Amino acid sequence: MTTAASETPPSPWPHRLAVATWLAAIPLLLFGGTITTLEAGMAIDGWWILEPGRGDHFLLFYPFEKWFRDMGTFSEHTHRLFGILVGNLAIATVVVTWLKNSHKRARFVALGALLLVCFQGYLGGSRVLDASPQLAFLHGALAQIVFAYLAFCSTYLSPRRQGSRAARDHESGRLLRLTFTALIAVYAAIFAGAWLRHAFSPLALGVHIGLVVLATWSVVVLARSLKRRGVSDPSFRPLRRAALWLHLLIGLQIALGLASFWVVVMVAEKGSTDVHHSAYPTLHVLFGALVLSKLASTTLWARHQLEVEPSPENPARSIGLEVAS
Ligand code: HEM
Ligand code: HEM
Repeated sequence: MTTAASETPPSPWPHRLAVATWLAAIPLLLFGGTITTLEAGMAIDGWWILEPGRGDHFLLFYPFEKWFRDMGTFSEHTHRLFGILVGNLAIATVVVTWLKNSHKRARFVALGALLLVCFQGYLGGSRVLDASPQLAFLHGALAQIVFAYLAFCSTYLSPRRQGSRAARDHESGRLLRLTFTALIAVYAAIFAGAWLRHAFSPLALGVHIGLVVLATWSVVVLARSLKRRGVSDPSFRPLRRAALWLHLLIGLQIALGLASFWVVVMVAEKGSTDVHHSAYPTLHVLFGALVLSKLASTTLWARHQLEVEPSPENPARSIGLEVAS
């Protein structure tokens, strides 16, 4: 087995670029959510050539006076431009990972992010050519997976993740099961949220709320277990921090859900351009994605720190010498 001391330190650049891709996806989600909230999905005609027959502008050279003509057009065009930025950063991550990281799995994790971003862009492009609610729903539901995968990818490529490992004990299996359960429960709630957002009905609302209760319970149980497990072990700092973040994010998400319910159901202002009203559902989309991405990276940390079986070469609680594959 190789030791950290004998390996050249991994290049920080694949990780940096993966983080930049994830960060650039935050405004992408915000502008995407704003388009749906304002019901402005058809604000601009055409995909790569905008307003065919009435201007024929190439996507990158859309005139300023048209771009800024109203909030819907502004959000739609800015969303596309951030899509292009995220796509280019994902390409850069793949290129640099293939050049600087010799681990096959790391290279394919980066490639996976690029493929997901391309497919998501293709769905978005298809949606602007066809005002289909099904395409809009699919684009919204997949966006959350893409965002969480970008977080997973940046955690995977993190040189810090390759530093320390803890051995499996009797609680490890339970913790790993809890992380997977929370991940699945939260995505189920998100999926029902996308259904609710794109085809509002009392049934969708009921299913969303039911799954939200399940998701909240699983996240709180997970966060408490991570906190308990991490009390005395310094190598568990990332998991302890994750527990704190999960509590905070899920609390904010519930508050934003209640505010969205107030806007969408009580005041029935869907499509309103009032900034206070449109902000809650849009932020609810973003915070749903933040909860899911925190869970994706926590699952990876948990797998990484809990997967090693005790052995003579790797005794329980020996931390810090292995380099992850
Ligand atoms: C990686 C790329 C992309 C991501 C992560 C992304 C993400 C999102 C998100 C989160 C929403 C809001 C969904 C909701 O609130 O339920 C959205 C909406 C939308 N996006 Fe994207 N998007 C991407 C690329 C694109 C591209 C390239 C286009 C167009 C060329 C596009 C066009 C749209 C449209 C038209 C909507 C509004 C759909 C509707 O509700 O009718 N997206 N996007
Ligand atoms: C674990 C907590 C929650 C999560 C993860 C969550 C997630 C989501 C997501 C991601 C969406 C939008 C999906 C999309 O279009 O991409 C959504 C929509 C929605 N959620 Fe939640 N939600 C949570 C809690 C709540 C709560 C407590 C309520 C309060 C009743 C609520 C009410 C709503 C409403 C009304 C919408 C539709 C908004 C619209 O049509 O613009 N959510 N939820």
